[in-house]
Amino acid sequence: MALRTAFRKTALRKSALYSLSNFQYRNDFNNLNYQENNFEIPNNVKDFDIKFHEMTIGGQTEKIYKHMDYPLESCQELLAEMTISIIGYGPQGRGQALNLKDNGFDVIVGLRPEGHSWELAKQDGWLPGKNLFDIDEASQESSIIQYLLSDAGQIECWPIIEKNLQPNDTLYFSHGFGLVYNDQTKIIPPKNVDVVLVAPKGPGIKLREKFLNKERINCSFAIEQDYTGHARENTLALGFGIGGNNLFETTFKNEVYSDLTGERCVLMGLIQGAFKAQYDVLREQGHSPSEAFNETVEEALISLYPMVNERGMDWMFENCSTTAQRGALDWSRKFYDVLKPEIENCYQSVVSGQETKVVIEANTNKNYRHQLQQELNEINDQEIWKVGKFLRQLR
Ligand SMILES: NC(=O)c1ccc[n+]([C@@H]2O[C@H](COP(=O)([O-])OP(=O)(O)OC[C@H]3O[C@@H](n4cnc5c(N)ncnc54)[C@H](OP(=O)(O)O)[C@@H]3O)[C@@H](O)[C@H]2O)c1
Repeated sequence: MALRTAFRKTALRKSALYSLSNFQYRNDFNNLNYQENNFEIPNNVKDFDIKFHEMTIGGQTEKIYKHMDYPLESCQELLAEMTISIIGYGPQGRGQALNLKDNGFDVIVGLRPEGHSWELAKQDGWLPGKNLFDIDEASQESSIIQYLLSDAGQIECWPIIEKNLQPNDTLYFSHGFGLVYNDQTKIIPPKNVDVVLVAPKGPGIKLREKFLNKERINCSFAIEQDYTGHARENTLALGFGIGGNNLFETTFKNEVYSDLTGERCVLMGLIQGAFKAQYDVLREQGHSPSEAFNETVEEALISLYPMVNERGMDWMFENCSTTAQRGALDWSRKFYDVLKPEIENCYQSVVSGQETKVVIEANTNKNYRHQLQQELNEINDQEIWKVGKFLRQLR
């Protein structure tokens, strides 16, 4: 490990020469004002050219970085002299650590030795004293710290990370929670480090599964502090190293506001509420459990949502019966009117810090695990999901 320490912090390189060049093309995409540009920013760091595509839609321009523009060898070479510590081995820590290691990066893992994750990491082949350490040692011995403890765990362990951050280090998050709500979390990084984010748009389990299938997952990324002048290229190399596909640039704030709203609404909270409400109405009106489930969940997940994924909502509507189309179009407007104010309330609750306050209070309550398990058991006991379990076995 002494050797590692000797080689750490090699981040000081010459500044990048930023200039926009290359071609630009315009495309009228379904009559929308859609435009895609392709720029290259030549960079004198080890042949690591920063390329991005620019999309202007609805009056807003977004930058998209595509993995095919960033060969793995360039990413490896860029970070060759840096040790990356993955602090935490939940779904994200595990997925990102294994993908980076398999992609040839110098990775160590930092965990509490008495925890469940330590055993899991050992089972995955990480060796104590070689590439598996406690959180203090791992963060000391790395120049890139990927801080992937649970959001509550990040608050507790921050004093350890803070004392081990050296000038020019990179502090990496996969969620804006800790930093954006630092009035609550007290996670305030020093000014002389890079602070970046790469947030896979899917669970860590999928990130790993897709990697093993030679597939990738879209991610958002953000640069909060660029002390070294190299935060961008390092973040891109990390994003593609963990198995990122297209990387969409955002800010810590936008990432956390949209993520917290999404999971409370359409991704999880709203969908559980909507499925259960429809199932209960059908059951109360005398429909059988299988009929209520099939018309609510089975058909949605197996038939219709995949169509939306493949070709879009308009295509799904176009390819349903005229009866379904007419009714769904009319009712979609009523649901929009009912749901939009609630989603707005949720967004404001996220922005105000109320949502994170609830999360932090819950996770610091000693009885929380027990209470959470009770709530999860309640969902498990709901008739809709019992029927689902049974019908899945018949598939
Ligand atoms: N879940 C996802 O797929 C996903 C997707 C995008 C972004 N993210 C973000 O990625 C980060 C990690 O999330 P995650 O879901 O992978 O992890 P998680 O399940 O929230 O956290 C699990 C890890 O945190 C450790 N931990 C928790 N409290 C600790 C403490 N007080 N001291 C030391 N270790 C502690 C656990 O270790 P022990 O086993 O020792 O308890 C375990 O390794 C979060 O910022 C999350 O918001 C997650």
